[in-house]
Amino acid sequence: MHQFHYRKGILHCEEVNLQALAEEHGTPLYVYSAQTFRDNYHRLTQALEGLDHQIAYAVKANSNLSVLGLLAELGSGFDIVSGGELFRVIKAGGDPKLCSFAGVGKTAEEISYALEHEIHCFNIESVAELELINKVAEGIGATAPIAVRINPNVDARTHEYISTGKAENKFGIDYAAASEVYQHAANLPHIQIKGVQMHIGSQLTSVTPFVEAVERVIPLVAELKSVHDIEFFSIGGGIGIIYDAALASGQQDWWDQHDEPPLSPVVYANELAPRLQSLGLKILLEPGRYISGNAGVLLTTCLYEKKGHAKTFKIVDAGMNDLIRPALYQGHHEIIPLREDDASTRVTADVVGPICESGDFFCQDRELADFKANDIIALMSAGAYSFTMASNYNSRPLPAEILIEGTQVTVARQRQSWDDLIAPEL
Ligand code: LLP
Repeated sequence: MHQFHYRKGILHCEEVNLQALAEEHGTPLYVYSAQTFRDNYHRLTQALEGLDHQIAYAVKANSNLSVLGLLAELGSGFDIVSGGELFRVIKAGGDPKLCSFAGVGKTAEEISYALEHEIHCFNIESVAELELINKVAEGIGATAPIAVRINPNVDARTHEYISTGKAENKFGIDYAAASEVYQHAANLPHIQIKGVQMHIGSQLTSVTPFVEAVERVIPLVAELKSVHDIEFFSIGGGIGIIYDAALASGQQDWWDQHDEPPLSPVVYANELAPRLQSLGLKILLEPGRYISGNAGVLLTTCLYEKKGHAKTFKIVDAGMNDLIRPALYQGHHEIIPLREDDASTRVTADVVGPICESGDFFCQDRELADFKANDIIALMSAGAYSFTMASNYNSRPLPAEILIEGTQVTVARQRQSWDDLIAPEL
């Protein structure tokens, strides 16, 4: 369930009227629901009850300090991919000892920073990286805890840009080479083997690829465990969300009402937990989108309507620099008006931004509410990979981010000004 719903004909987030909020803070505006983050976190941990597990929220999905702070309060760990993300987690009050450092291109500076903060683990993506970590650790008299990321060569059946578990992807160590790499790691004096890791891709809407990957890697984990001191197995992130039924009274209901639920935490846990249990290891999960995706929306104002010969365009004040998912992955975000009545008249249109690129659209030829200039609309399910992928392209200031908690409104990030745009250049 998410906490965006119409009340008296106006879209609300929790107890807050979004029309009034947008008028006060301006658009484009990201709005997050604290309760939705918490509910998603709890739904996942509850589904996995009985399995010794730890959630390491993938910071890249939404790294606002307020968001990280509320997840830290829930006891979440963090999957980080840069020194900057670790810095954010620490500033937000998160525990570095619950941080796993992933990514194929960690620098010596980042490795050293992570070692100083005694992070939980480095997820190793190559032998060269393993050796650099050993060297950096030696330099500061530390021992680096590691897990090797195994590439199981499984098709995640998701968009090719967010599929990571095939042999042709840049991620992880080939399944066949894993034992040798672990042996090498065991011989490095400043490396401590702690776990095994995998992640096959993002926005998976079927449990089948997860099952295939887990079944493929479990025998390897068991074999490695018999030789090395393995404490945990991280199965990565990737649980998909529903983007095209975003307002239906919450995703869980939508899933439950459909004959073949694509992927819910319960389906995920029911399929994976019994298989993982037999390992007798702690299981780590790295969900990003599942926790944050439906916890946020992007509000944008319609500037103009333009009826071309072939199409109707609704030009809004948010662009691909604010939310790049449609342009980059053909990502679908529901588009709904803040005033429910505006949805009664329908039109087929493209919703586009002000950026000078033809790829700057939020939908094409979609039937949607016939909203007009000055009307405010919501791009739904914009809590993950939305603000974090925003840029200043076309010298457009980054939007503000608001966190709602019941009736309480917190400006979690101020809107950038034009001065902010040029400040580092002076
Ligand atoms: N763990 C690792 C090693 C990852 O690479 C990722 C995501 C996650 C966990 C979290 O995956 P999630 O649970 O959020 O699916 N920008 C794209 C998604 C990129 C995902 C990158 N890695 C999008 O907007 O769809």
